[in-house]
Amino acid sequence: MEAVLSVEELHKAYRTRLGGPRRQALSGLSFTVPRNSVVGLLGPNGAGKTTTLKCVMGLVRPDAGKVSLFGRDGDAVEARRRVGFLPEQPYFDLYLTPRKLLHYYGRLSGMGASSARSRISYLLNLVGMEDDADLTMDKFSKGMLQRIGLAQALLAEPELLILDEPSSGLDPLGKLEMRDVLKSLGTGGTTILLSSHQLSEIEEICDRVIIIHRGREVASGRLDELLEEKGDCEVLLAEPAPGATSGLPSSASWAEDSGGKRLTVSREELSAALTALIESGASIAEVRSRRLSLEEFFVRRIGKTGWEVEE
Ligand SMILES: Nc1ncnc2c1ncn2[C@@H]1O[C@H](COP(=O)(O)OP(=O)(O)O)[C@@H](O)[C@H]1O
Ligand SMILES: [Mg+2]
Repeated sequence: MEAVLSVEELHKAYRTRLGGPRRQALSGLSFTVPRNSVVGLLGPNGAGKTTTLKCVMGLVRPDAGKVSLFGRDGDAVEARRRVGFLPEQPYFDLYLTPRKLLHYYGRLSGMGASSARSRISYLLNLVGMEDDADLTMDKFSKGMLQRIGLAQALLAEPELLILDEPSSGLDPLGKLEMRDVLKSLGTGGTTILLSSHQLSEIEEICDRVIIIHRGREVASGRLDELLEEKGDCEVLLAEPAPGATSGLPSSASWAEDSGGKRLTVSREELSAALTALIESGASIAEVRSRRLSLEEFFVRRIGKTGWEVEE
């Protein structure tokens, strides 16, 4: 598995005021982004996501640690050229039109005028902004500016796309559209690292996740494996179910639905639960594993207090 980006033992502390104490924003964070993956950097506000991405982009210098892009030093200009970045708050000269702005950036990155023009038309179409491409951006909504930011990040056909909270501040429809664009880029083979504090966004778009809390990794890996591995089991009873069951382990809980009586129990306590059921005279129709939602996974790892209410 070729790593497009690898981050090793990043440490960063900020001084909260001049001469004041330093507060640790990153405390030894390490992770890799394999080629062709869509990786979510997930964590509550203040977890260190923006600091991490800025260290990767060379906008913040870490106190210690190493960033490698495409197997080379992260500071190498040649490596940086192959990365597109959408910052948390993209800033543009609002008296330009998107087409002019993108043309300017395209020329800066060494594109010829005619290849810039066709690439820009393609991208404006991709982000759904072709109809507004020749209006000045001073009247654009946050969502429209965010789409232009995405087009700008994609301009030089980056091999790695880094996005800091790409859908923050967007309305629900804008969020859906951003997710669709990112999903289609991901399935088209662009390697993406995106930060988010929104569980549903990560769950929908990403195939891998790095969960961070207070500047440290809490969990990371393939999303489906993490959620499956830590999931509970469900036991469905054949009818007629016994009236009472004794000796069930502590994690077991009952639910009843159209499919009959259903017991949910942790993976570790499954065999104890099955023994108790059989000894109580139940016959078992089915045992299946239940995938956790990312929210359940997160709450189990960090607790409810680690999270703020999702937008
Ligand atoms: N320029 C800065 N000066 C001082 N503290 C900062 C600065 N940038 C970030 N921090 C602090 O570092 C921590 C991590 O911030 P950040 O990386 O922005 O987190 P996130 O993007 O996950 O919300 C927070 O406690 C934040 O207040
Ligand atoms: Mg941030």
